[in-house]
Amino acid sequence: MDRNIDTVFTDPQFVAAPQMEPERQYYFIDLMKTLLLARATELGRKPTMHIETFGCQMNEKDSETLAGILKAIGYEESDGEDADLVVYNTCTVRENANTRVYGRIGYLGNRKKLNRDKRIVLCGCMMQEKSAVEKIRQSYRFVDVIFGTHNIYLLAELLYRREKTGKQVIDVWDKAKEIVESLPRYNKYGFKAGINIMYGCDNFCSYCIVPYVRGRERSRAAEDIVEEARHLTENGVREIMLLGQNVNSYGKNREDGIRFAELLRMVSKVEGVKRIRFMSPHPKDFPDDLIDEIAANEKVCKHVHLPLQSGSSRLLKAMNRHYTKEQYLELAAKIKERIPDVALTTDIIIGFPGETMKDVEDTIDVVRKAGFMSAYTFLYSKRNGTPAAAMDNQVSDEVAAEHFNRLLQAVGETAAEQAERWTGRTETVLCEEYKEETGLMTGRLDNNLLVHFPAEKEALGTLVRVRLEECKGFYFLGSQL
Ligand code: 5AD
Ligand code: SF4
Repeated sequence: MDRNIDTVFTDPQFVAAPQMEPERQYYFIDLMKTLLLARATELGRKPTMHIETFGCQMNEKDSETLAGILKAIGYEESDGEDADLVVYNTCTVRENANTRVYGRIGYLGNRKKLNRDKRIVLCGCMMQEKSAVEKIRQSYRFVDVIFGTHNIYLLAELLYRREKTGKQVIDVWDKAKEIVESLPRYNKYGFKAGINIMYGCDNFCSYCIVPYVRGRERSRAAEDIVEEARHLTENGVREIMLLGQNVNSYGKNREDGIRFAELLRMVSKVEGVKRIRFMSPHPKDFPDDLIDEIAANEKVCKHVHLPLQSGSSRLLKAMNRHYTKEQYLELAAKIKERIPDVALTTDIIIGFPGETMKDVEDTIDVVRKAGFMSAYTFLYSKRNGTPAAAMDNQVSDEVAAEHFNRLLQAVGETAAEQAERWTGRTETVLCEEYKEETGLMTGRLDNNLLVHFPAEKEALGTLVRVRLEECKGFYFLGSQL
């Protein structure tokens, strides 16, 4: 969809706006600030905002930027959909995500009848689909602002345009233009944060809509990533998660020759960084030097999330994954051999076109042999426009449910077996959540497992040593040393 400007805007404030980013957005943040101050006087309180994030960590990260912009404008955070401004940052990887969003927009529309000045913003992956935007344009006129994944940095400008025109603003781009650095950002946790190292995906797995809604791969400059890590740690962040749809492709479109293993090394040299995680590599091109870097670098968590999708070589081919069952197992074995105590986790899709119980048995075989610590299991969802959607051997819901149950059982058994191996050990954990009612802290191990243990609230965000006393399947009970 082309950039859709439904009003050719001649407002003097727009004419005077700087052309360069991010200066332009700071200019619109200031304009919105003035409008919001007036609104606050009317209301006798600060206007509130609520962001609801659907989907993956990329969206979580984008929502931090959206929150940063809204806070800079002067909105106060509230935790409900009655807020003066509600943002839905949507996901479209699976169809049911879309269905849920429509239901909730309807609900928001009813709330807006009680508060005419309420503003509703929809953005993210689902908005990159023409059919979704068309449906909202026609059936949900009360939505104020719609944009996609490529221009989230425009939030303040688009909100301002909505206020000035009084009309629904739709601005969805086909592809990314530039990577805009240095926008305000609000970090939800304080002690851990994600950093995008690249955007988009060029892999075109046959079931997946991501390459169509997130566009072609673009890597950020290593120095910008390191600078962001430095800035975050100066503000209390200890754990960094490097994010990309396929981190092994990091740097492919850049000329400086810096690839992912080297980037890990560079980020780990930032003094305040205590732990580094990353999400996700692709099994088709996992280089040896990356395995060696994870093994040797003390700050890099010994956890590799390695999406399998299927253990059947026949289905992997139809999925366009570029590896076989045997190649995946070889890679998993190599990673486990070179990185002692590494935890492998994965994503699996059940019900891909043509799947039989024999394919599921192959997948289960890989689950057992690779020894996954956990697996996200997804029911295949047909996404229009992807090659798999046009395949004529779609699997019925009943058969898929049968396959799913069979897999779930194997995944549960393997995960429990793997976690059990840690019982009795003493490990360093990051204190991530504290519950007043129970006095229990939840800590995350290097390998991504969780442990609950009695602690003081003040320990939040620090790294402490904990003995893992009892394994409860997916988590432990423990005590602090
Ligand atoms: N149906 C089900 N699961 C999917 N995923 C991606 N596309 C689909 C789809 N059409 C899963 C993959 C991916 C994860 C993020 O979402 O397992 O790794
Ligand atoms: Fe989708 Fe495959 Fe890209 Fe992952 S690697 S985002 S599954 S196309």
